[in-house]
Amino acid sequence: MAGVQAPGGLTTTRAPFIEQAQAEGRLYIHQPYELYSRDNHDAWRRLFTRMEDRWQRYANPRFLQGIDSLCLDPDRVPKLEDVNRFLSPLTGFQAKPVSGYVPSFLFFDCLRNREFPTTITIRDGATLDYLPEPDIFHDIAGHVPMHTDRAFADTLVRFGDCAHTAAEIAAGITDEREKIRRVTSIFKALARFFWFTIEFGLMRSEGGLKVFGSGLLSSYGEIANSIDSPEVQRYPMQLEWVINQYFEIDHYQPLLFIVDSFDHLFELVGELERWMREGRLDNVAPGEPAVSEPDLRSFLEASKGK
Ligand SMILES: [Fe+2]
Repeated sequence: MAGVQAPGGLTTTRAPFIEQAQAEGRLYIHQPYELYSRDNHDAWRRLFTRMEDRWQRYANPRFLQGIDSLCLDPDRVPKLEDVNRFLSPLTGFQAKPVSGYVPSFLFFDCLRNREFPTTITIRDGATLDYLPEPDIFHDIAGHVPMHTDRAFADTLVRFGDCAHTAAEIAAGITDEREKIRRVTSIFKALARFFWFTIEFGLMRSEGGLKVFGSGLLSSYGEIANSIDSPEVQRYPMQLEWVINQYFEIDHYQPLLFIVDSFDHLFELVGELERWMREGRLDNVAPGEPAVSEPDLRSFLEASKGK
């Protein structure tokens, strides 16, 4: 029966290996490759093969090169060590297996060290289209091909620098309530910028408008919608807009932003960091994303070492 996994399968929300790692507080784990079931590999194959035409049509050329460089097998869930063998000589990046959500300071700090926290479970084959949480298809097929590009990889490292700058700023604030208020605002700005670029960004390219955001690159329906639908608003990137723009994660994005190039994206993260230092991220508009307790705590903990 579709969707029923052999014991020990690595299906999202139904993987005993992951539950045990979480119960033991282990965030950084290994990928127990032998636990993937036949259904898991089948889900990967169906996800990957149906995307191939869409990538050719809608994806940024650097992403297409990245897919080639990584030599991903369309038929089987990838082994992270195989992916890393092709990836790390190009940009120094590595996919690092994790058991679940990585609190945001730690996530950004991993990027700074050229490590990408990677989910190892895969969605249930019966629900290929909608998944609120990331899975290995989103992380490896949606994110990691972009990490083969030097300018893009450097941009992610720059995000990591931004998180350290935020922790430094927090370290300089003595009033505890004010510290939490400002960290919360800065976090929102960083998360919104990340969302509208790394996850859902569009870019001008030779062949017209193309997708480089991983949320789009891993979604069969939304990748086409993002470029073709007349209902989507597409605007040139404006930093002051993006940091104040809330977003919702459970439906197609009605508003997307366009950057000019990967160099442009890199410069924008530098500008974001300057704005942070100037206090321009201290009072952004309220609304999504919410700042979870682990996210906030991760920044406050990091600020103690500054
Ligand atoms: Fe993502």
